[in-house]
Amino acid sequence: MASSSTVVMLALGSCLLVLGVHASSAAFQSLRPRVIGGTEIRDMCRSPFSSVVALQFDAPAGSVTFCSAVMLTESILVTSGFCAWRIQELEDLPYYAVVGERDLQMTDFDEQKISVAAIRIHSGFNVSTFDNNIALLRLSKPATLSSCVKPAFKMETDPTACSDFDQSCMVVGWGPFVENNRPTNSRLPRYASVTVLGDNVAKLLTPLDVNKPNLPVGSTFAETVNRNIKTCFFDWGGMISCRRNGNHVLRGLVGEHNCNSNVPLPILVTDVPYFQKWLDLCLLDWNRCTSL
Ligand SMILES: *[C@@H]1O[C@H](CO)[C@@H](O)[C@H](O)[C@H]1NC(C)=O
Repeated sequence: MASSSTVVMLALGSCLLVLGVHASSAAFQSLRPRVIGGTEIRDMCRSPFSSVVALQFDAPAGSVTFCSAVMLTESILVTSGFCAWRIQELEDLPYYAVVGERDLQMTDFDEQKISVAAIRIHSGFNVSTFDNNIALLRLSKPATLSSCVKPAFKMETDPTACSDFDQSCMVVGWGPFVENNRPTNSRLPRYASVTVLGDNVAKLLTPLDVNKPNLPVGSTFAETVNRNIKTCFFDWGGMISCRRNGNHVLRGLVGEHNCNSNVPLPILVTDVPYFQKWLDLCLLDWNRCTSL
């Protein structure tokens, strides 16, 4: 069994972490097509879960959540550029945003299905490099807010936070997990603890992915604390939240999954605060929001 192992030890500020990066030919067989962790979210009516929105279409077998988004205001959602790109590929297939979604097979308390009126994909988005992997969706009518349906808290500075190896974070998504040896769309959203890397650290790790030699513009990486946990297709746009001053704030979005790589790659994360100016402008004046 060919196996190589690199240990990168980094001491930055107050944070010390050892990253073990294992490349093994056995990794592919032992790969578990994900889940975001295995921990089902049963109570969506608390932060950060109350800000997570499912993007769905109806299939004969039931609703399929093909991406997630995060609520910024009662009528504007943010997701990854790749997710919005895929929506455009759905063409005439009707899809909708579901706020307050918890169980795909039930109508939940506070669940609201709302169609999407307009999409703005960042004008620098590149589907092959994943540069500027961010997009906004405007709902056709405002969602009714409640304790189960709430805009996300914005990222803020916190003197106690560790920005190079932020271990206060989690990832949330609906992507598939394995049931009876078959990938199945998760009925409930799931979450897992992740460490979000600061962009200087992420740049050090970038050469590990030969297919993407440069860190995409406006992205960083996150690593699941439990390495068997991965993000997968349908987790695009899932929320990455971190704790700042006691709140779960919006740190990022699942930019690209890491479930079908034969080395344990980190999750590519859209660095939402990097796009704050563009977001502010679009929230202020949707018609002046530049788009692809
Ligand atoms: C996307 O990036 C690739 C690689 O840098 C480049 O060749 C291509 O032209 C870019 N596409 C667009 C639409 O800018």
